[in-house]
Amino acid sequence: MARVLSGIQPSGRLHIGNYFGAMRQHLALQAQNEGFYFIADYHAMTSNPSAEDLRRRSLEVAMDYIALGLDTEKTVFWRQSDVPEVTELTWILSCITPMGLLQRCTSYKDKVAQGLSPNHGLFAYPVLQAADILAYHSNLVPVGADQKQHIEVTRDIAQRFNNEYGPILTIPEDYILEDVAVVPGLDGRKMSKSYDNTIEIFEPESSVKKKIMRIQTDSTPVEDPKDPQRCGVFALLKLVAEPDEIKEWEGKYRAGGVGYGTVKKRVAELMCAYFRPYRDKRAALEKDLDAVRDVLARGAARARAVARQTLDAVRRATGLGD
Ligand code: ADP
Ligand code: TRP
Repeated sequence: MARVLSGIQPSGRLHIGNYFGAMRQHLALQAQNEGFYFIADYHAMTSNPSAEDLRRRSLEVAMDYIALGLDTEKTVFWRQSDVPEVTELTWILSCITPMGLLQRCTSYKDKVAQGLSPNHGLFAYPVLQAADILAYHSNLVPVGADQKQHIEVTRDIAQRFNNEYGPILTIPEDYILEDVAVVPGLDGRKMSKSYDNTIEIFEPESSVKKKIMRIQTDSTPVEDPKDPQRCGVFALLKLVAEPDEIKEWEGKYRAGGVGYGTVKKRVAELMCAYFRPYRDKRAALEKDLDAVRDVLARGAARARAVARQTLDAVRRATGLGD
């Protein structure tokens, strides 16, 4: 059984782009694999959240995952910072990571361009990610295309380590979720918390509906034909409608005579129906935070046992300790 590992940052409320672009795949992969999923709170520190925000958002991400079907018995699910071994591994790996490798990483430049402060953590973030992956001997790392470069960096670092110190680290394989659609946001750009154009998975249904009704569309008149492939509302429809219904709407777009308002109403209905079965569980967890903390504590104990063994081997091989 392959070990599948992925992390998600608690840098805000999770939105439907996160769900259809990442979480849905994580949840689907747990059945046939050994799932190792964590809340990347060390990574989220790179954007300097307040202590209160970081702690609350980590719990919110945990509640979202559990409500959406994370198998808390089978899958190992924990908060990254509950296994501080990864930070020790980060340092050890940092010392064999050439500056040039990190300087070539585009996510640092992108984030600084978006206005994040260029702190050292943000620059060194791919090494922390490599430590996450390597501490647990992960085989597959499912991530969106935006993270592909970080998996390559991880492979590179692991190979350097093994060449220098012996075959201790498992080289992970790319598992890029390439066929995953980019979910558009309310303004037509990629849905992202940095653009403030998101629909949160568990925001009230009335607000989901309102947001969908105000998605920006072009000004093609109702009676004119429209191109479904260039419409954000249609992109959302494709995520939640049955294939027959998608075909039907595609025909209506091309034929003309349907206004965007009509499609939006249907998308809003379907989107709310899609997440409705999980809302009760999400609300119940909100009232039982101790149960959520308990899941995370059990996950951390299981994860930590694996990381400890890796660290013991790494320390021995590199000359740390006796
Ligand atoms: P954000 O852009 O809101 O900051 P993150 O970068 O934290 O989101 O993304 C976490 C995961 O969700 C990543 O694997 C990313 O590929 C996926 N994801 C985020 N936004 C989208 C989107 N609009 N469409 C598809 N996948 C997305
Ligand atoms: N950097 C990832 C993101 O922003 C989150 C992450 C942290 C991660 N550590 C990881 C993903 C390890 C996969 C494996 O989305």
